[in-house]
Amino acid sequence: MAFINSTPFFIILIVSSTSFSSAFAGSVVEDLNNLKPPPNFKQTITNNCQLNPSLRYCNATPHDLDEIFKSTIVASHLCRESKNPNCVESFPKINLRDRPKIAPLYLSFSFFWKYCPLTIVVIDISHNSLRGEFPSDVFHCTQIRRLDLSHNELSGEVPIQNFSLLNNLTMLNISYNYFSETKISDAQFLKRFNSSSFIHSGLLPDHNKFKIKAVLLLILFPLVVILFVVLLSWLCFWRPDFLPRMFRRKYKFTPAMLKAETDGFSKSNLVRRSAKTDIYRGVLRDGSRVRIEIYKSSASRENRRKFVEECRVLVELCHENLVQVLGWCDSRRLKAVVTEWVDEYNVEMWLSSTAPQWKYRVGVLMGIVEGMSYLQEGWPEVDYDLKTSSILFSQNEEPMISRFRVEEHHSCTRKIYKFGVLVLEMVTNRRPREFEGNEVSFVEWVTEYYPGNSEEVIDEKLSRAGHDLDHATEALELGLMCTETTQGQQPSLDEVYDVISRLHRCCVA
Ligand SMILES: *[C@@H]1O[C@H](CO)[C@@H](O)[C@H](O)[C@H]1NC(C)=O
Ligand SMILES: *[C@@H]1O[C@H](CO)[C@@H](O)[C@H](O)[C@H]1NC(C)=O
Ligand SMILES: *[C@@H]1O[C@H](CO)[C@@H](O)[C@H](O)[C@H]1NC(C)=O
Repeated sequence: MAFINSTPFFIILIVSSTSFSSAFAGSVVEDLNNLKPPPNFKQTITNNCQLNPSLRYCNATPHDLDEIFKSTIVASHLCRESKNPNCVESFPKINLRDRPKIAPLYLSFSFFWKYCPLTIVVIDISHNSLRGEFPSDVFHCTQIRRLDLSHNELSGEVPIQNFSLLNNLTMLNISYNYFSETKISDAQFLKRFNSSSFIHSGLLPDHNKFKIKAVLLLILFPLVVILFVVLLSWLCFWRPDFLPRMFRRKYKFTPAMLKAETDGFSKSNLVRRSAKTDIYRGVLRDGSRVRIEIYKSSASRENRRKFVEECRVLVELCHENLVQVLGWCDSRRLKAVVTEWVDEYNVEMWLSSTAPQWKYRVGVLMGIVEGMSYLQEGWPEVDYDLKTSSILFSQNEEPMISRFRVEEHHSCTRKIYKFGVLVLEMVTNRRPREFEGNEVSFVEWVTEYYPGNSEEVIDEKLSRAGHDLDHATEALELGLMCTETTQGQQPSLDEVYDVISRLHRCCVA
């Protein structure tokens, strides 16, 4: 049969449309009443459903044969009324716009809508002054994409929930109707269709919800952004220690960080206060203890630049006989250097309280020479303080040089001289300040007794043991050579290193 391939509705229409006159829509109802499906109609439907089981009438019971047949007749009429180009093959559009005479008629054919042809994607029934309830029959056409019911006089409730059946609906217009006034709060619906879909229809978007959204968007969002920026700048400029390590500037401490680390510069954390500096004990966020030295001198710009330059050098230093500099703070208000924490027990205290054996003293000298050699190799511009009170002990009892500065004009002679004084202090267990606070007079005092009566100046704790005395005398000689700056007899640091390490080896052996 030739018509098997065509769209099911029209298969039948070709057979029956002769009895129909599309010109007189008014007679459609009458005609429908008189029509009976042809005898082979059931077979046709069965065939159609085999070909396309998704057709709406395929699930119908046999009793509905009449209605199915009538719906195909209406479809044919409506297709032509709607000016579809091809009413044999397909039927995409119901266009009853501005047809107030026939629009109500077609809307009244419930059986047609029940079997709404699957090809229909557009329904336009606008501008008809239609009265009554919302035409819920259109919800049978679940596949439609556009629905226009604007400019009618429809009233009552709009079944908002039912629009969720029309998954493919992208354009809806129910504007200019008389529906009951309702605030729409269905978020899903409002997401799909904005208010231009229901202008003057009685429906209103729930302004409270919109207001809340507007408040969220217009006030809360900028607020969140501002808060975020504030928080970020607080982190960057005040407390970078809260940032992950990779985002921090290494070595950089801010006044707020120092304040937090010292409990607000509390008295209990103040270690020492002098005219030029305050020294605090502090604890970093990772739990490590630090020493914070705050400089009181007013910081001119040039001053600050020099200070930062110096700190940049000092943080590079890393040796077990040097106190590790961890960073600095160079704000306008506060200038500070942060170093690892070392207990305040220094060589001077150690010498005077325990008068240690020679092997321990030479061990300390060895450590200091190691530190000096390390600096000499990589950072000859770094000067340091070798007073016994400035040399501290690390946790594993290594001596540590604790005070450095970067000098513009560095002098090796001066460093060796200071080391010489240190050696003499270690051997004699006397302090230069006992000699009118003067290193020169201290050295002169030792020279007076050397070499003839060196036992007089050597610490009596060392004089008792024979070997120690010999070694101490040798060290005394080295110390004096180091302080001999006038006649070019001062040994080099390498030579000093050799002597000290030989003396050290003797004691260890
Ligand atoms: C919506 O359209 C898609 C294709 O665009 C179709 O596969 C689907 O069946 C349609 N949904 C309904 C409910 O008709
Ligand atoms: C409303 O939605 C339509 C598309 O459905 C769009 O063209 C129009 O710009 C939207 N109007 C507003 C005010 O968002
Ligand atoms: C609905 O129709 C009205 C009036 O014709 C129009 O102003 C409005 O833009 C239309 N809305 C949509 C979503 O097309």
